[in-house]
Amino acid sequence: MRGHPGGEENSRRMIALSGLAPGASILDLGAGAGETVALLRALGYEAGGIDLAPRGAHVKKGDLLRVQAESGGYDGLISQCAFYLSGDIPAAFREAYRLLRPGGVLMYTDVCFAPARPIAEAAGFEIRYYEDMSALWREYYIEALWRGTADCCGIKGRCGYEMLICGKD
Ligand SMILES: C[S@@+](CC[C@H](N)C(=O)[O-])C[C@H]1O[C@@H](n2cnc3c(N)ncnc32)[C@H](O)[C@@H]1O
Repeated sequence: MRGHPGGEENSRRMIALSGLAPGASILDLGAGAGETVALLRALGYEAGGIDLAPRGAHVKKGDLLRVQAESGGYDGLISQCAFYLSGDIPAAFREAYRLLRPGGVLMYTDVCFAPARPIAEAAGFEIRYYEDMSALWREYYIEALWRGTADCCGIKGRCGYEMLICGKD
């Protein structure tokens, strides 16, 4: 699982931290290939996902900024590395807030260029757990650059390292 830093281990940690019991309805916002959806389903959750470019089982086409679902219909939401790419982080948090039932939980990880916490609070959320995962992101990003798969951040192509010995005529 390489769609976000920490892979499956990180997804499992978030799910445990959410306190949501198996059977809960969870929507993955920006689910990509649906790996986290598959994990959730294997753990007994009623999980599905949406993505602008769906590419996996149980992931449908949809925009996380305008989800075609009624308000308060989900026990949980998960989003890993997708709010920033949506282009409107505050609107993404507001839409997540709308989708959750009272008492529901949003599990979120993403890159940030400014702290997400006040944005989430402005949308109405209460923060129950916070972790600075910048060190893990740095490791993931460097590895993605090396593999040539860092297109998630607008950088494409494998990076290299060259030596030239340049003479002056
Ligand atoms: C870095 S990938 C992460 C995929 C997945 N969450 C994972 O961890 O493997 C980001 C995903 O967000 C999706 N995305 C970006 N903007 C979106 C939007 N407005 N609505 C739905 N999906 C979006 C992209 O299509 C992409 O699949």
